[in-house]
Amino acid sequence: MKKHDRLYQSDSVPEDFSFSEPVVEVFDDMLARSVPLYQEVVEATAGLLDRHLKAAETICDLGCATGTTLLHLARCLRHKSPRLVGVDSSEPMLTKARRKASGYSGGGRLEFRRQDIATIAEPDCGAFILHYTLQFIRPPQRPPLIARLFDNLRPGGLLIISEKTIVADKRLNRTFIDIHHDFKRTHGYSELEIAKKREALENVLVPFSRQENETLLQEAGFSPVEPFLQWFNFYSLIGVKPH
Ligand SMILES: C[S@@+](CC[C@H](N)C(=O)[O-])C[C@H]1O[C@@H](n2cnc3c(N)ncnc32)[C@H](O)[C@@H]1O
Repeated sequence: MKKHDRLYQSDSVPEDFSFSEPVVEVFDDMLARSVPLYQEVVEATAGLLDRHLKAAETICDLGCATGTTLLHLARCLRHKSPRLVGVDSSEPMLTKARRKASGYSGGGRLEFRRQDIATIAEPDCGAFILHYTLQFIRPPQRPPLIARLFDNLRPGGLLIISEKTIVADKRLNRTFIDIHHDFKRTHGYSELEIAKKREALENVLVPFSRQENETLLQEAGFSPVEPFLQWFNFYSLIGVKPH
């Protein structure tokens, strides 16, 4: 059962956000109440992979957190017998992911490992997933990471990314953020919790614009690069490594 997120209910000054034990404990609840269309994103990811992947290929979920996406893929893509690899730098996240996966009988083709995604090496990979993880990577480290993923994909392989974004127009940017805060209020977060979480994420989560993300992928060689889902300041895009 999901433990309710009450991390930012107290009056104390928040520390910078990190994926430590207290965050991991409430992470699934936090995601469901903070990330709009999360379930739709996971389902759309499965749909894209189902149509593009060959049998028995590797799918790598980078920043896999508690394994929600990979476990969904394990169920939906069973007929393709993919090798599913979850990578994360947070040991508490991986412990939770392994616990959630303990009932899964996928014949040893589901694995969670601790690694910095900057060092990923999965030659001939069918697909990399980066859901809400790139935004936590320092901006200067993003181009070499995306280039590395491009090099590790097989021709025709996919990179699927979801991110929080900013828009250049300040007024519209403010409106999108306000609408997201409404979403959080609807899901039970108070003004104090919203303000404190925002403060904790400052300088830790650095969103790019859609244009910046798309240029990042295009400059690494991905073509086509297409958005496939958007909710105000959240969106998902796909890049294909050309044949
Ligand atoms: C917002 S969560 C991702 C959510 C997850 N992809 C999902 O859809 O449920 C970001 C994750 O990225 C991980 N992370 C951040 N930087 C990382 C890095 N350099 N290498 C590996 N994992 C990283 C964090 O530990 C965290 O679990």
